Amino acid sequence: MMKLLLGLALMTLCAVAHGKSYEGYQVFTITPKSKAQLEQMHEMMDQLDFWRTGPVGEPSQVMIPATDVEYVKEALEAAQLEFEVHINNVQSLIDEETKAIMSREKATTLATFDYNKYHSYQEIMDWVTNFRKAESSSALFIQEINVATSYEGRQIKALKLTTGSGRLGAYTQGGIHAREWVSPATVINLLKKFVDAFKAGDSVATNFFNKFDWYVIPSLNVDGYHHTRPEASNTDRMWRKNRQPTYTSSCTGIDMNRNYGYKWGGDGSSGYPCYETYAGESAYDAVELNQVTNWLLGLKNGGQQFKIHMDVHSYSQYWVYPYSYTYSSSAKVPDLADLERVAKASVAKLTAVHGKSYQTMTSGDWYPAAGASEDFGYKILGAKYSYTVEMRDTGYYGFELPENQIQPCGEETYAGFREMFRQVLLEV
Ligand code: ARG
Ligand code: ZN
Repeated sequence: MMKLLLGLALMTLCAVAHGKSYEGYQVFTITPKSKAQLEQMHEMMDQLDFWRTGPVGEPSQVMIPATDVEYVKEALEAAQLEFEVHINNVQSLIDEETKAIMSREKATTLATFDYNKYHSYQEIMDWVTNFRKAESSSALFIQEINVATSYEGRQIKALKLTTGSGRLGAYTQGGIHAREWVSPATVINLLKKFVDAFKAGDSVATNFFNKFDWYVIPSLNVDGYHHTRPEASNTDRMWRKNRQPTYTSSCTGIDMNRNYGYKWGGDGSSGYPCYETYAGESAYDAVELNQVTNWLLGLKNGGQQFKIHMDVHSYSQYWVYPYSYTYSSSAKVPDLADLERVAKASVAKLTAVHGKSYQTMTSGDWYPAAGASEDFGYKILGAKYSYTVEMRDTGYYGFELPENQIQPCGEETYAGFREMFRQVLLEV
């Protein structure tokens, strides 16, 4: 008996030390057959964590806590919603990933930085500095900017790549959602590929840097990201939001992709801090987003005219464009035709690289998300080409995308961005 108690005590200690356990958590794939079923699914699952929200006829994925699995199954059956258990135990995927991460050396130099791995917050910040030092030249000047300090006190860094003055502005951010690890990894790979292409004399990269200053934040939600990593003392791999306290004592974090100021607080965002899509108490009250958007608007007010605003997420394999604040049947941007045309051309190039199909659509056709980045980019920053791109995959691995997909994902996304840049350059 003594031994058993001790064993239990040790187990609890371990669990606490490692943070949140997803033991027995399952991911269900649900495919609603009609708009009515889609809405029913959303209502039933309001308080659960959607990994992916698909349109009617396409799979949606939702993570169910161990204690709710049986109940949710019964409810879905009763509602005649078609579903299957896609991931049997989320924790076993996390365990494998953690083992791999903990067994390798930290990358502190550019030479030891492996572009095919997911890195810690500190490794990413070191990469920003090391990359800047190694690659900044008289032909392509790279500047490191401390854009913001997070709630927990971490630096949020941007790189500015420029060939001279009087350029238009392009902006790209990764990692606004913490658990989407392939986002910062892809943004880092994009930077490297564009700088390499510029050095090799690629015509699009050359034209792009001759016309544009490119501002890039590889990891925006730095506290959230750290919280998803095994280095954190109280890790939670599936964390999405930032880490600032809310008006409740029990729930932490604002969904920064619902915290932007255009039509803030509308459809697809929540006023409840315990929800994954909590929009905050007011627009821009998320510590990190507040500073990042002020910085961007400061550049704009200083005369930099932004044409491109790209927000990189995972997963679903989509390129989406505004508006996001409502169903697109009720509001259309004036530049819809151009946004659609350029998205289609970009995705065609992207798909040609590895044969992975990506879809294009207005974000309001997917599902409304008031206070999301694409509306800010378009309406407030004034960047005509404002896209949210969702990287790999379509739900097989989801957020647990294996590291061997980082490179192919980077290659195809590069091809998509290159075509998007090429198209935009035709009209500036
Ligand atoms: N998946 C992202 C999110 O939930 C992107 C949202 C894109 N916009 C939209 N209206 N669906 O924040
Ligand atoms: Zn996201």
